[in-house]
Amino acid sequence: MSSKEIDWDNVDDIEWGVDDELDWDDMDEEEDILIELRNDPQPSFFVRKFAVVWWRKGFYKAGKVDGSIRVTPTRLIFLDSKGKVRLSIMNDSIYSFDLHHHDGEFPIYYNEIITKDQSSYQITTGVDESQSVKNNKDIKKAIAGELEVSKAEITELTIVTTNKGKIGEFVQSLDKTNFFPVQNSIDYPEIQASTLEEVVDFGLDWLKDKVEPPFVIDDAGAFIDSLEDFPGVYSRYIYDTIGVEGVLKQMNDIEDRKATFRCVLGLALADGSKHKFVGECTGHIIGEMRGSGGFGYDPIFIPGGYEKTFAELSLEEKNSISHRGRAMEKLVDFLSNMEI
Ligand code: IMP
Repeated sequence: MSSKEIDWDNVDDIEWGVDDELDWDDMDEEEDILIELRNDPQPSFFVRKFAVVWWRKGFYKAGKVDGSIRVTPTRLIFLDSKGKVRLSIMNDSIYSFDLHHHDGEFPIYYNEIITKDQSSYQITTGVDESQSVKNNKDIKKAIAGELEVSKAEITELTIVTTNKGKIGEFVQSLDKTNFFPVQNSIDYPEIQASTLEEVVDFGLDWLKDKVEPPFVIDDAGAFIDSLEDFPGVYSRYIYDTIGVEGVLKQMNDIEDRKATFRCVLGLALADGSKHKFVGECTGHIIGEMRGSGGFGYDPIFIPGGYEKTFAELSLEEKNSISHRGRAMEKLVDFLSNMEI
């Protein structure tokens, strides 16, 4: 079949076969969309945004239509730009989904979908080879249920904090996961307690009727060995009163400068359960402030094995070794292994 057999301008006359009556609204709305592909604007006048469908089985129909392809866990759907379902094929009835090159007057790449009952549908999904190859690969994976990260799996995770530095770390750390951090700046009381865990427990309880789960809170502090773990749970108070300079002054004549940052993340789930994840990072406090990144005590803390302060490291570097980075890793592990 050559492109000359197709009346490209006569789109609306085309019969689209069995799915013509099918309406997206009638479809199972519970079905998650694994992949959604819109046809991208095409550079050539001939192939401006289109999808072509041929049927085998003794006859064919063809068309040039703007639209999008959606793959759900059970089917592949082509919707035109008005949202009308033009084609719906059960994934398990697809025998092959391969990319071909049509080398005619107007060369194009098209996907040929062959079903087990020997029907064939041909759809373009790219303006050039690389886009066509990528989209073919992604759709194929979605049909086979093998997409690594699908949109449907992205879960919003509320992070309750007023600290922009912390939220930046969550955004960076969750970037390659299925969780999307959303900040909630509601301020909650931090009780005076002897451990970060107690502070987190209190915070989770206080917030449970005020924030929709799942949500996460975070409490952290710097524990300096020679100061008997000071400022520890009082890190915020000390930072807000005497500041980093004050801590440096306290340590003026002290030789042992070992310190540990600790972070406790608290997670509240819809079933009412609470979970905590702890991360630590040991290092030492230097004698002056260095670096402009990070926040809080970052400019005076050098993590073990490094020569730069937290404030001199990139966000990625800090997250890969920091107390919060380690706690976040555990949190993501936990969330990834459960339905929330
Ligand atoms: P909180 O967890 O917000 O209560 O933090 C207590 C204090 O520790 C605050 O003054 C923070 O600035 C500081 N802090 C918390 N996390 C970090 C960090 O990752 N680096 C440096 N300082 C931090």
